[in-house]
Amino acid sequence: MRITMIGTGYVGLVSGVCFSDFGHDVICVDKDPAKIEKLNRGAVPIFEPGLDQLMARNVEAGRLSFTTDLKAAVDGAEAVFIAVGTPTRRGDGHADLSYVMAAAEDVAGALTGYAVIVTKSTVPVGTNRKVKQVMAKVRPDAEFDVASNPEFLREGAAIDDFMKPDRVVIGVQTERAAEVLAEIYRPLFLRDFPIVTTDLESAEMIKYAANAFLATKITFINEIAALCERVGADVKEVSKGMGLDGRIGNKFLHAGPGYGGSCFPKDTQALARIGQEHAVPQSIVETVIRVNDAVKTRMIEKLRDLCDGSFNGKTIAILGVTFKPNTDDMRDAPSLTVVPALVGGGAKVRVVDPQGRREGEALLPGVVWQDDPYKAVQNADLVVILTEWNEFRALDLKKLAKKMASPHMADLRNIYSPRDAKRAGFVRYDCIGRPGLSLNAV
Ligand SMILES: NC(=O)c1ccc[n+]([C@@H]2O[C@H](COP(=O)([O-])OP(=O)(O)OC[C@H]3O[C@@H](n4cnc5c(N)ncnc54)[C@H](O)[C@@H]3O)[C@@H](O)[C@H]2O)c1
Repeated sequence: MRITMIGTGYVGLVSGVCFSDFGHDVICVDKDPAKIEKLNRGAVPIFEPGLDQLMARNVEAGRLSFTTDLKAAVDGAEAVFIAVGTPTRRGDGHADLSYVMAAAEDVAGALTGYAVIVTKSTVPVGTNRKVKQVMAKVRPDAEFDVASNPEFLREGAAIDDFMKPDRVVIGVQTERAAEVLAEIYRPLFLRDFPIVTTDLESAEMIKYAANAFLATKITFINEIAALCERVGADVKEVSKGMGLDGRIGNKFLHAGPGYGGSCFPKDTQALARIGQEHAVPQSIVETVIRVNDAVKTRMIEKLRDLCDGSFNGKTIAILGVTFKPNTDDMRDAPSLTVVPALVGGGAKVRVVDPQGRREGEALLPGVVWQDDPYKAVQNADLVVILTEWNEFRALDLKKLAKKMASPHMADLRNIYSPRDAKRAGFVRYDCIGRPGLSLNAV
């Protein structure tokens, strides 16, 4: 198959590279010349484990190329995937569809024969029909179908998720479009991965419903964690006991500093907005958004408490600022709420993150970036584990505590335990939904 991928971000680039690895001929297009220049040099503009090798292999095999020239890339394509951003529109929470619609218009102008235009971006119900209308207006003569193919990959594990998905969802209006998509995903068909073929609206809805459900699960356990702290229960034990119930499952039951990232915050907001527009308010999702904001604020209060009531003049080391490990993505990361509160409160903040600096430098003004956690905690009053990178999972806690002015730790990912902390010489240790350690108070 000849595939064109519009957008070479976290989804478009991974999808394009993986499709080429399936054996298809793929041309990836981006309007950002700097990104395309990098890709043409063999450099990957984002951090995603394994992507550089897979990309190099397929470029070398002559199945994968990159360009800014959308017209040339669409010429002769059997399927054109739109994988551009759909960020939250300023002011109203709605998904900003301007990038999708602009891409659709450009694609319409460039079509040279029948093609299926596949929206991979996460878009509100009804968008694919709008894409069809917009394209037909630009090119009433063009022969094409639209299809919805939402993406479920997780950053940090994107290649594996794309190659071994729980399911592929395809929304179509015609048999012809279904056949093109079946051919594209044939390698997965052959390996028995479930393919859900449905109508456009259901496919669009599946993506929002799935993300909102996962965000709800995380938020549920975060709220239970706050209650655990009050009643003396341990949320880790509670999650385990709940998760072993096959009806519940153990995924997305890890209490933490609130969900962030490029998808859950914007997709929950967009779904809430869609509900309001159709006079069917999604009250559970609206509550999840509110509670998640409160969870992030609760983290600031935890840190303030560990700083004896004020950040002013304190030195605080933050370990991890990306929204999760194994990505450089900072979009809506909890660090963007927590760190400015510390800086604004008068703290000197040092930050360590294996991949976050490139994006984070502009987003977190007033912090000092360091490469080494042990250097970052030198004479510090508090160390905060905000993202559970592997690098922070097996720290020498004794060494860490020794270097600090006051050995206080906030473990917002529950990596360590009060026992570990005490043994290492920490006098205060707070975590999420479990009893902490406060030797000062004993
Ligand atoms: N990031 C994820 O983990 C993830 C997972 C599933 C679904 N999604 C969805 O996939 C979509 C893309 O997300 P992303 O994280 O890859 O976004 P991104 O911001 O990383 O990438 C979007 C890319 O599209 C390019 N672009 C925009 N308009 C263009 C145009 N007209 N022509 C060519 N290129 C254009 C931009 O320059 C950018 O490189 C979103 O709708 C998102 O919700 C993302």
